[in-house]
Order: sequence, then C-alpha cells, then structure tokens
Amino acid sequence: NLEEELYRPNYHFTPKANWMNDPNGMFYYNGVYHLYFQYYPDGNVWGPMHWGHAKSKDLISWEEQPIAIYPDSIGLIFSGGAVVDKNNTSGFGKDGKTPIVAMYTYHNMDGEKAKRLDFQTQAIAYSLDEGQTFEKYTQNPVIKNPGIKDFRDPKVIWDTAREQWVMVLAAGQKIMFYSSKNLKDWKLISEFGDGVGAHGGVWECPDLFPMTIEGTNEQKWVLIVSINPGGPNGGSATQYFIGDFDGKTFKLDATFTKQLKEHNAVWLDYGRDNYAGVTWSNIPEADGRKLFIGWMSNWDYARDVPTETWRSTMTIARELKLKKQDDGYQLVSMPVSELDKYTSKTIRVDSLKVDQNKVIVSSNDVNLSKLRVKLELNNLKDKKYTFLFQNKQGDSLSFGIDNKEKYYFLDRTKSGQVKFSEKFAPKISKVLRDNIAKDITIEVLMDKTSIEVFFNEGETVITELFFPNKPFETLSIQTSDETLLVENIKVEEFQFN
Ligand code: FRU
Repeated sequence: NLEEELYRPNYHFTPKANWMNDPNGMFYYNGVYHLYFQYYPDGNVWGPMHWGHAKSKDLISWEEQPIAIYPDSIGLIFSGGAVVDKNNTSGFGKDGKTPIVAMYTYHNMDGEKAKRLDFQTQAIAYSLDEGQTFEKYTQNPVIKNPGIKDFRDPKVIWDTAREQWVMVLAAGQKIMFYSSKNLKDWKLISEFGDGVGAHGGVWECPDLFPMTIEGTNEQKWVLIVSINPGGPNGGSATQYFIGDFDGKTFKLDATFTKQLKEHNAVWLDYGRDNYAGVTWSNIPEADGRKLFIGWMSNWDYARDVPTETWRSTMTIARELKLKKQDDGYQLVSMPVSELDKYTSKTIRVDSLKVDQNKVIVSSNDVNLSKLRVKLELNNLKDKKYTFLFQNKQGDSLSFGIDNKEKYYFLDRTKSGQVKFSEKFAPKISKVLRDNIAKDITIEVLMDKTSIEVFFNEGETVITELFFPNKPFETLSIQTSDETLLVENIKVEEFQFN
C-alpha cells in the first residue's frame, strides 16, 4: 500500500494502527527500555486515551506490545510517568517482585461535559510483571483536583539527596511540585512558573531532573515544560528552565534568568514537531545518560496529517547534556549512540568546494529516507547557506543558515503535501541568532516523513515532519559564497530490518 511505502517511517516509532500522542511512563529495567504512549486504539484521531506500550533493547528498534492501561469508570488515562520502586516503598511488591509504579492523570469526561473544573485527578497503577500489565490502585485517585481545570501529566523522580519521591505536575500555566515517601500519599511542596518563560498556552508534560554541567562537577536541575500553543514557530513546543532544587523549591539560576530576560523562553527544540517529550527513569548509574523522546507532531495539525492507518510518530531517542558557555546554559540533545550500529553504508567525501550549487548526495548513492549526514562549515560570511532536498515532482525541503538575517531555518512550505491543514506550513521556521554563525557543524537525520537537524552538536535543534509526493532524490547545497568549502562530510545510510 502506497501510504505504508511512502510514509511509514523507516526508523522512528509509530503504532501499527491508529492514533498516538505523548510518550508516557518511560523506564528502563532488566535490559529493556519501555515506552508507553497516549493511544486511541479505535480510531486515527484523538479519542478515549489508553497507555499503549512498546519495548526496545536499544532505543531504536521498537516492538509494540498489548495495551498496558485501559480507561475505566473514573476516566480516560492521560499522560504521566513510571518509576521502578526498588525498595518497595509503595508496598505493592509481592513475592520478591519489584513493582513498577505508573502515575497518570484520570480525565473524567462527564465532569468535563458538565463544565466542572475538577475533572482531572492523579492516580497510580502498578505492575509486577516488568511493565507488561498494570493493576490500578484501589484507592485512586491519589491526588484530588483542587479546582484547577488543567491539572495533569504527573512525572515522578527519585530525589536521591532527600530520599523522597518528587512529582511535577502541570497546572494551568504553572508547575506544582509534590513529594511522597510511598507513591500513594502526596504533599504539595511548591509551585513554579509565574511570570517566567513562555505563557502563550497551557503548560503540559513537565519533567524535572538533576544534571552535571559538562566538563565540571557542578550540578543543576533541569525543568522541562511543554506548552500548547505558544511555541517559537507556532503551536506546541517544549521549553526548559535551569535552576536549583532543594527538595522543596525550584529556584531559577541567575545566569538562566538573564537568558530568559533576553529571549523570553529557551526551547529544547525550535522545530514544530517535538512535543510532550520527557526522560527515561531508572537508567543505571553506570550508564548515566539522560535519555529523552518526544512526540513528533504538533496539536496544530496532528489529526490532519496525511496518514490514515496510523497517526503520529516519535522523535529519535536523544541523549541530553547540559552545557554552560559564555552565553549561558544550553540543554543540548543528540541522537542516542545506539543509532550508530545501524549504519550499513558510509560514503565519505572529505570536503566539497561549492560554487553556487552542488549536489552532496543523490539517491543513486544512498537512500535519502534512511540517511544521516554530518558536515562542517567554516569561515562563513554574511551570506545564506541552504541545504536542499528535492525530487523530480518539484517537492523541496530545505534548511540552513541565513547569516545576513542571522537565523537558522527549516523550510517545508514546498515539501509536498502541505494543504491538509493551513497551519502545517504557513511559513519558514526560524531560530534567531544573536550573531553571525562562523563555524558550525550540522548533523541531519532523514526518514520518510521527518527531518531532525542538530546544529553545533545539538545546541540548536529543529525537528519537523514533511509529506513528499515521492521520495527525495538529491541533497544539494546552494550559496552565493563561492569560496565555501564543506568539510568533514560523512554520509551514512541506515539499515533496519
Ligand atoms: C499533551 C496532552 C497532555 C494530556 C494528553 C492527552 O499533548 O494534552 O497534557 O495528558 O495530551 O492525550
């Protein structure tokens, strides 16, 4: 079938059939990465939410599993997190089996219809078979609604220093912090969000975790907050905050406060299709990575994208790192290194002299929908540098740097099917820079319907979907800088079975 051939991603997770949104409850246990997701098994648009489930040994090849949590008489199962309760603090453990405890939001439709404010509450469920099936706690909900209409998406972490569970929850345009000793009884400890960051829409799907600043021993806390609408290029997007957490209160870092003064908000991804992303729990200390995945869509048009069998896909799993440079903090993200083992064919071109327009690779050499390209541009001038994917049908997808106007960009306005929603490609997506880009590195992941561009080792990321009429056939670079040398080009084709 044409849709499968043309649009089913080669290496990004999609459910076999029907609707998916946010990633939920990710944890690692006994060699397996678990990914749950907002799922409606009976249709290809959003509907009564379940937690779908997929498993992977390497964060790249996923195997879909039976639905893990079903809605019930209290409500639909909205987003949330899961933890491995090694010390059985919850008491759900039995016969030496370690409980996995999921915390999610109940969304009560009758309450919503009746225009009540308290229709979202927080609940828990536990698994004694390593996340395959869940038993709901009989005394749900564990957190009642205090009269806040948008009150959802609990994400739990183990706070090592204080030996407590900490949970962050989105409430309107704030984040509420809770603590617990047993995952059942929760105490509100603080709130964050008034007057800081982007407030163009409702806050959703927060995450909180400590990170060590690269190259130092200094620890900072990262608070991730998705927001819809109000993203930098329209619709849904994910912002973050850097600060300190003392077990009760999240306090913004002074340098980061300055960054916020200059930029209003700082974004984990500037593209239009990385939303509601959070991190895996229970990653072994010996590994130590912060692993992230996002929903690769946008509420502006998620239900309209031209796939019928399934709708939505996840980003590539990414490793987050925290950097601090002269211009402040950056939460950088790069594809997980597990992706490396899927490269089957490497085409190297050490460097390429560009006079106006040069093809970097074509589909004769490499399949452009399972592609990774890495390259470097040095000594850039105040000109525009455009990388362009094209096919004979006249579809084009481009990205690059405009050093005249000082921005990175991604342009899908002519990338094929765009008219299914007027919100899909009304304009070019841009990331404004404070200064001219001089030397930059670029890494690009291409799949059949997605592009993920990582500038400067993931300091700036742009993730977007596209739906070409036929696969792209060439990748070229265009610029009026006739002395440009594209260096350290590495083109790789992935192989997946
Ligand atoms: C984010 C979100 C969450 C909610 C879920 C419902 O995309 O709106 O806030 O829990 O989707 O499916």
